[in-house]
Amino acid sequence: MPTRREFLTRTAAATAATYALLQPDSLRRVRAAGRNLAGESPRSLADNEGYWGQIQRAFAVDRSLINLNNGGVNPSPRMVQDAMRRHVEYSNQIPSRNLWQQQEPQVETVRARIARMFGCDAEEIAITRNASESMEISLYGLTLSPGDEVLTTTQDYPRMINTLKQREQREGIVLKTFPFPNPPQSPDELVEAFERNITPRTKAVLMSHMTTYTGQVFPVREICHAARAKGITAIVDGAHAFGHFVYDGGGIGCDFYGTSLHKWMHAPIGTGFLYVRKDRIAGHWPLMAAPEPKTNDIRKFEEIGTHPAANRLAIADALVFHEGIGPERKEARLRYLRDRFAKRLAANDRVRFFTSLDPQQSCGMATLGIEGIGAGDLRTHLWKQHKIYVTGIEFENISGIRVSPNVYTTPTEVDIFTEAIEDVLKNGIPVETKG
Ligand SMILES: Cc1ncc(COP(=O)(O)O)c(C=O)c1O
Repeated sequence: MPTRREFLTRTAAATAATYALLQPDSLRRVRAAGRNLAGESPRSLADNEGYWGQIQRAFAVDRSLINLNNGGVNPSPRMVQDAMRRHVEYSNQIPSRNLWQQQEPQVETVRARIARMFGCDAEEIAITRNASESMEISLYGLTLSPGDEVLTTTQDYPRMINTLKQREQREGIVLKTFPFPNPPQSPDELVEAFERNITPRTKAVLMSHMTTYTGQVFPVREICHAARAKGITAIVDGAHAFGHFVYDGGGIGCDFYGTSLHKWMHAPIGTGFLYVRKDRIAGHWPLMAAPEPKTNDIRKFEEIGTHPAANRLAIADALVFHEGIGPERKEARLRYLRDRFAKRLAANDRVRFFTSLDPQQSCGMATLGIEGIGAGDLRTHLWKQHKIYVTGIEFENISGIRVSPNVYTTPTEVDIFTEAIEDVLKNGIPVETKG
């Protein structure tokens, strides 16, 4: 007969074991790996392969391929995919009840968690399907008159530029864009360029927090501050920034901030959010008509008809996974992986970097080209010959490949990519693997 003490000890151990078994495996790995390393700085942990090996195993990606286009869209860890599947199954039991009455109200907890991570009030967050939707709500919903100017860079995302071009054609607003060098000398150069191009007719400025072509980080706080001081609406496209590097969203001081959550946050594909500064909600038109378009309720931007709750609810699991790693650790690891290939290849004077490697101006992505080799050929060769997936960029003076590893990428995979580029530098691209 066990003593009372033995009984309690055994029960506690069994409960802990059961709890561990019930936790999604990937989260258990992440937490367990992190627990013993609590005292280590994010930078010193950036090349601790024992730790990152646990994170890598949280993803069920195909390791016979090397995906270095994580800037496009990210895979979700297993725990996020599992959560999504559970929610889909539950919705489908009796959708009109489970989806509308149970799951949709539950999305409010996700709103609150996103707000907490971004650094704002939950009543300032609309959950959307992606950055595009968030940005279109921002850009179409502004009240503008013919002749009013919206200022952005030529390197902002094409869909946002097209949104403004459509407003030009339809309503006679004026889209003004300016180019900037790749890379710029310093972040100040970008603030000055915005300030120089503002005119008395400028009503809004649009900027990418991190650009699509080169991953250039913009000093959004300074630009928003300069714009708002002149009464100009400040809109930030944060598609690549949220979940990638650490910043205080509320502290940026913008009026609108849109992002996807299926990029660097690892949430299910088809998720994003839009932050709208509280005092801008009532005056802003929703993209799809809401019963009260001028209400102060942020949910008016979510009036899109029947839509799944599963991917929205599973955002919470992605946030938990991200917090489990620690945003600072993740940022440090992304920088480490990027620098691992970038610093080695930058030593070759035939390799041109369109991305500054200055930590203030970039993070986990870099766009690079090889003198005398077309971006399309390089991209196709990497895929055909090595099954390495990158995206090709041809825009203005940029001709290269954008390379974006992620937390599940191993240093060996980064080295295989680096060696493949070194081989091209030495031997060129055989005709069979050209684009
Ligand atoms: C800067 C920027 N904004 C917006 C988007 C659009 O993102 P999504 O397709 O998730 O809406 C992208 C996509 O790569 C992007 O790079």
